[in-house]
Amino acid sequence: MTKKSPSNYNALQIGLHWLVALLILAAFILVWTFDNTPLAPDTFKLKLQLIAWHKWAGITVLMLFFVRLIYKLIRGTPAIDPELKPIERKMAVSVHHLLYLLMLVLPMVGWMLSSAKGYPVMLYGVWQMPDLVAKDEALAHTLKEIHELLANGLMVLVGLHAAGALKHYFIDKDGTLARMLPFLKR
Ligand code: HEM
Ligand code: HEM
Repeated sequence: MTKKSPSNYNALQIGLHWLVALLILAAFILVWTFDNTPLAPDTFKLKLQLIAWHKWAGITVLMLFFVRLIYKLIRGTPAIDPELKPIERKMAVSVHHLLYLLMLVLPMVGWMLSSAKGYPVMLYGVWQMPDLVAKDEALAHTLKEIHELLANGLMVLVGLHAAGALKHYFIDKDGTLARMLPFLKR
């Protein structure tokens, strides 16, 4: 996918990686808080605000996906550590590709879900995004199931990805984690 293989991730790539990780964490925390907020007259406004923030975080992930992809095509990203076993390299690349795929598809499904429910997305409370599909309750139900399934898949993949990075740091004691956290360079 990449044209070149630089020897490191630069500050922009590291910044984007951690910004997106934080936004994804925020999207989960916001929707869990939304789920645990009762639908009562005094919490109704808060509930709406929480889901709106969830959508803002998710749409920002979607926009940053394109920034990351374009920048990856322009600058390239470092090849996986050639010292690793071929199976480990394959697994790491597959997980990275699946993470990229989910950063695209999960927010798109969320956006379609909002449209199908009949609620247009007001990005940052300012821009009304176009509806991706017409209002349709049955479709909204299916999209909600798909959105939940993909979000669970993302959680599992991020878990695997982070566990792999920590294994490199604590067990293999190599420089993989330091590529994304340069202050850890030994
Ligand atoms: C990083 C991106 C995103 C993640 C990780 C994420 C995650 C989740 C999770 C875990 C749920 C709860 C699923 C359930 O229990 O049914 C959810 C629900 C939902 N999400 Fe997202 N989402 C993302 C992006 C978006 C976007 C971009 C939108 C819309 C623009 C969106 C709209 C919704 C809506 C409308 C619900 C249903 C809330 C309800 O009525 O219960 N999501 N999301
Ligand atoms: C605690 C959480 C996380 C840790 C410790 C972590 C760590 C790392 C490390 C060390 C790398 C570099 C791997 C290498 O050079 O071989 C990396 C790359 C990557 N990470 Fe994460 N990460 C985390 C969360 C996330 C999240 C939430 C996402 C997005 C869903 C993500 C997506 C990616 C992608 C796509 C790459 C590959 C970039 C490329 O080379 O194109 N990471 N991560």
